[in-house]
Amino acid sequence: MVAIRGAVLERIGAPRPYARSRPLAVSGLDLAPPGPGELLVRVEAAGVCHSDLSVVDGNRVRPVPMLLGHEAAGIVEAVGAGPAIGGIAVGQRVVLTFLPRCGQCPACATGGLTPCEPGSAANGAGTLLGGDIRLRRAGQPVHHHLGVSGFATHAVVSATSAVPVPDDVPPSVAALLGCAVLTGGGAVINVARPAAGQTVVVVGLGGVGMAAVLTVLAHDGVDVIAIDQLPEKLAAASGLGVQRTYTPQQALDAGVRAPMVIEAVGHPAALQTAIELTAPGGRTITVGLPPPDARISVSPLGLVAEGRSLIGSYLGSTVPARDIPRFVALWRAGKLPVQQLVSSTIALDDINEAMDRLADGGAVRQVITFD
Ligand SMILES: NC(=O)c1ccc[n+]([C@@H]2O[C@H](COP(=O)([O-])OP(=O)(O)OC[C@H]3O[C@@H](n4cnc5c(N)ncnc54)[C@H](O)[C@@H]3O)[C@@H](O)[C@H]2O)c1
Ligand SMILES: [Zn+2]
Ligand SMILES: [Zn+2]
Repeated sequence: MVAIRGAVLERIGAPRPYARSRPLAVSGLDLAPPGPGELLVRVEAAGVCHSDLSVVDGNRVRPVPMLLGHEAAGIVEAVGAGPAIGGIAVGQRVVLTFLPRCGQCPACATGGLTPCEPGSAANGAGTLLGGDIRLRRAGQPVHHHLGVSGFATHAVVSATSAVPVPDDVPPSVAALLGCAVLTGGGAVINVARPAAGQTVVVVGLGGVGMAAVLTVLAHDGVDVIAIDQLPEKLAAASGLGVQRTYTPQQALDAGVRAPMVIEAVGHPAALQTAIELTAPGGRTITVGLPPPDARISVSPLGLVAEGRSLIGSYLGSTVPARDIPRFVALWRAGKLPVQQLVSSTIALDDINEAMDRLADGGAVRQVITFD
C-alpha cells in the first residue's frame, strides 16, 4: 500500500461556484500495489480537461466517489509481476492515456479508429482494464477515472494506458500529450489529414481545440481558421500565430467554408456551426463530448447533394504508442509548441477553483504540478 493524496469527486451536480460547494475533496487514500500488467506511477503533472468537468457537472455521469484526472504524466516507480508490457521500466517518464487498449478485441484491430471494447467498459465502470480497483479511502473503494486518476500524487494504471517518452520532454508537455494533443492533434493527423493549400477550421479553443490549431500550424502550407464564442480565446489563438479568428456568428456572416472543420466544444450548437461551415465535399469532424441526450438537426439532403460527411473521433483516432512519438518529434523540431497550451500552473488544492475557471471559459489548459 502507498499512502497518496488525491482529488476525489464526492457528488455529481454540485452548484456553482465550485470554490464554495467544493465537490472535489483533496484527501489521503491508500493505493494498492500494481497487479500483473500494471504500473505504479509517481505523477509529475496533470492537466484539467473539460471531460473532468463533465463528470463534476453531471454531463457525463460516472460512478462516485471517483478520483478524477485523465491527462497526466509521471515516472514509473514499480512494475507489476509478469512480462513487461511495451518494454516499460522503472524510472521512465510515461504519458498516461485515457483509453486502455486490450489489443485483442475487434475494435483494437482498427488502427485507432474504434475505441477498445473492454477498455471502454472498464472506463464506464470506473475500474482498471483488468476490472480491479486499487484505490481505497477509509477502507472503501474509490473509482478510477478513465484508467488514469491523475489528480493525485501517485497512480496505478494498466501498462496499456502508458506510453514512455524521452526524459527531455517536460512533465507538463508530456501530460498534455495524453489528452489535448492526442485528441485535437490526432483529429488533424489521423482524420483531417490536410494537404498543402487546404484550410482547416477549428470550432472551440480550449486545450483540445488549441492543440488541433497548433497541429495544423505544424503543417507547411495549410491554413487554419480558429472559432470561439469568447474574444479572449480568439486573442489567444492570434497569439499562437493564427491569422483568421471569428466568433461563430462572424464566421457564418463572412461566409467561411472549409473542406475540414473540427468541432472541439461538446455542445450541439457548436456542432451545428461546424456543419454549416463545412464546404461541399468536405468533412465535419466532431470530438466534443456533449451530454448523452444532446441532439442536432442535420439536413440529409445537404449531406448527400453536397457530398459532405460527419465523422466522430475518440482520442483523436490514435494508437497512442504509434502517435505520441510523432507528436514528440514535432515538438522537438520546434513545430508543435505544446507548452504554449499551458495557461497556468496550479496546486492540487486549487482543483475546485480550477473547475470554475474552466467552466467560465477563461483557461486553455491549467496544469497541476506535484513537488
Ligand atoms: N473525443 C475525445 O476523445 C475527447 C477527449 C478530450 C476532450 N473531449 C471533449 O472535447 C471538448 C473540448 O474539451 P476542452 O477541454 O478543450 O474544453 P474547454 O472547455 O477548455 O474548451 C471549450 C471551448 O469551446 C468554447 N465554446 C463554448 N461554446 C461554444 C460555441 N457554441 N461555439 C464556439 N465555441 C464555443 C468555449 O469558449 C471554450 O473555449 C469537451 O467536450 C471534452 O469533453 C473529447
Ligand atoms: Zn481530456
Ligand atoms: Zn480492445
